[in-house]
Amino acid sequence: MNFAGKVVLITGASSGIGRQACMDFAKKGAKAVILVSRSKEKLESLAREISKNCLAVPYQCDVSREEQVSAMAKDILGRFGQMDVLVNNAGFGIFGKVADQSARDIESVMQTNYLGMVYCTKAFLDSMLARKSGHIVNVASLAASFGVAGLAGYCASKYAMLGFSESLHHELYGTGVRVTVVSPIAVKTEFFSNDSFRGRNPNYTAYALDPSNVSKAILNAANSQRLEIVVPFYMRAGVWLKHTIPFVVQPITGALFRSRMN
Ligand SMILES: NC(=O)c1ccc[n+]([C@@H]2O[C@H](COP(=O)([O-])OP(=O)(O)OC[C@H]3O[C@@H](n4cnc5c(N)ncnc54)[C@H](OP(=O)(O)O)[C@@H]3O)[C@@H](O)[C@H]2O)c1
Repeated sequence: MNFAGKVVLITGASSGIGRQACMDFAKKGAKAVILVSRSKEKLESLAREISKNCLAVPYQCDVSREEQVSAMAKDILGRFGQMDVLVNNAGFGIFGKVADQSARDIESVMQTNYLGMVYCTKAFLDSMLARKSGHIVNVASLAASFGVAGLAGYCASKYAMLGFSESLHHELYGTGVRVTVVSPIAVKTEFFSNDSFRGRNPNYTAYALDPSNVSKAILNAANSQRLEIVVPFYMRAGVWLKHTIPFVVQPITGALFRSRMN
């Protein structure tokens, strides 16, 4: 994998998977890495860290706000004239029963995880199509294939991301532009630091991945023709089983995640 001369933009760059992906794209020769999130100081600190390897541009932007995304894309395309790899990674989850959550809670998750991805995709797609080149990598989750108790809003946002990406994948056939979804299981990041998880979900479960495993999959995805890359790869079997014998798998996943609710 060599990203020499490529301009890469990663949302959710201030922490976890996105932060690691910024470092890895920089090490793999990217010309410029645009670091996007809401935390200016964290982005600036990461930019200093990776600037020995590439041109690192910290960019404060809330992806749930379409006007901010449009202004950011206009500015970045004005400066670089191209976007080679767009990684839609910004996201969060709120843990709790649907009955206990407000509609606003569920809406806020959808607004960032799903619509944030839509806004960024729309903001860069025309320029990619005009250049007949570019790759959009959408970081979903295994929660795009399994609805689990306590994460209805989050699962809905990731199912939506996968469905949108599958349609777009077909629309982009033959254009030179591609979209690939990366769907990991649990990862050791700040994701579980959200107050709603407190006391209910261990921060780092035994099977949780290191962000570097997911980052590697993101870099692979940016060179792949596939629609979805599941991390680790063997969890693909779990997705297949769920779709093939749901009457066996759903009671098991149901019981597993229900036990965390209480
Ligand atoms: N950790 C897991 O177990 C896991 C598993 C599967 C999939 N994922 C997915 O992986 C992605 C990255 O999560 P992570 O695990 O790395 O969690 P994380 O460490 O909490 O990082 C989340 C990132 O998203 C950014 N972000 C959140 N809302 C944003 C907004 N409105 N605008 C711009 N940036 C925003 C945060 O930055 P600011 O707060 O600075 O804005 C942060 O950089 C998410 O989409 C998540 O759903 C995570």
